[in-house]
Amino acid sequence: MTTIAVVEGDGIGQEVIPVARDVLALLHPEYECYPVEVGYGKWKKTGEACTADDISLLRDADAILFGAVTTPPAADYRSVVLQIRKELDLYANLRPVRGKGVDIMVVRENTEGLYSGIEWQEEDRASTLRVITRKGSERIARAACRIARERRNHLTIGNKANVIKSDVFFRDICIKTAEEEGVLYTTAFIDALTLDVLMHPDRYDVIVTTNIFGDILSDAAAYLVGGLGMLPSANIGDRHALFEPVHGSAPDIAGQGIANPVAAVRSAAMLLHHQGDARGAALIEEAIRLTAEAGIMTPDTGGKASTAEVGAAIISTLRRLTYGTCR
Ligand code: NAI
Ligand code: MG
Repeated sequence: MTTIAVVEGDGIGQEVIPVARDVLALLHPEYECYPVEVGYGKWKKTGEACTADDISLLRDADAILFGAVTTPPAADYRSVVLQIRKELDLYANLRPVRGKGVDIMVVRENTEGLYSGIEWQEEDRASTLRVITRKGSERIARAACRIARERRNHLTIGNKANVIKSDVFFRDICIKTAEEEGVLYTTAFIDALTLDVLMHPDRYDVIVTTNIFGDILSDAAAYLVGGLGMLPSANIGDRHALFEPVHGSAPDIAGQGIANPVAAVRSAAMLLHHQGDARGAALIEEAIRLTAEAGIMTPDTGGKASTAEVGAAIISTLRRLTYGTCR
């Protein structure tokens, strides 16, 4: 029995995840989905955003479907996503950027770097420690090489080794790993790389980089494919896997019923792929493509449809593709 923990979270997470869950239920009615409540909303109700019990519910699942959580800018509030990524050791954040003329996989280190959580504040100074470990760098480099070998066998190593010593360390470990794995590679400074990805996306295949650089690069690359509402992601560890849209809880549009569900539905497709159902994942992508082609899109991608309308269109298209009828 396959079990899926479903976390809607806050804001538009509660609007887009039900669509993604319905898509999973259509293709895999045998999956046992159970809800787990975490996030800012829970914190406001109970004083805790994510308990030890919640973490063990997440650990128990074969895979996690995750919406987004709000992180208020309060000094004493710990980001729930960061907590989950650390506790479940979800070290590889895979962010595919796919669209017309674009097929890039950003592989972002997900547990250390500038998101180490080691921070302190003094009177006139605030500091965050950027931690790059050999183990962390080696395993993300291996993961990137594995993905590169299934694609065009080329890796771009995004770094800032011209200025930052910990980036020299990261870059050199990636180079050594790529050589060991027989993967062709180039290195590029992250700032110039980000611009070049936007100008010449066809030159890139798999890009591996450190935590915050990968975060920024993938958000910027969303520009190439219609914005944040389109981008899914997978957070993979050796034992657990969590799938979530790249976007956050979008408080500016939450509650209006206009959030784009595509990123969440694509995250469900990545979940299926990870569970071994590549065909189901491809059918979902095809249903998304046909729905957009029919002009059924939310306002962020130039359409007039609501979340529910896009969701219904994706699901009925998927039903047609799967069963050949409109049941
Ligand atoms: P955001 O991704 O929530 O929103 C950025 C912009 O993109 C907003 O204008 C929003 O309306 C738009 N947008 C995002 N997703 C969309 C969708 N599906 N359809 C249509 N428009 C969409 O990022 P922001 O505003 O920086 O953060 C808002 C909250 O989300 C913060 O509390 C932040 O900490 C949290 N966040 C959580 C993440 C997670 O749970 N993994 C990731 C990023 C942010
Ligand atoms: Mg981001």
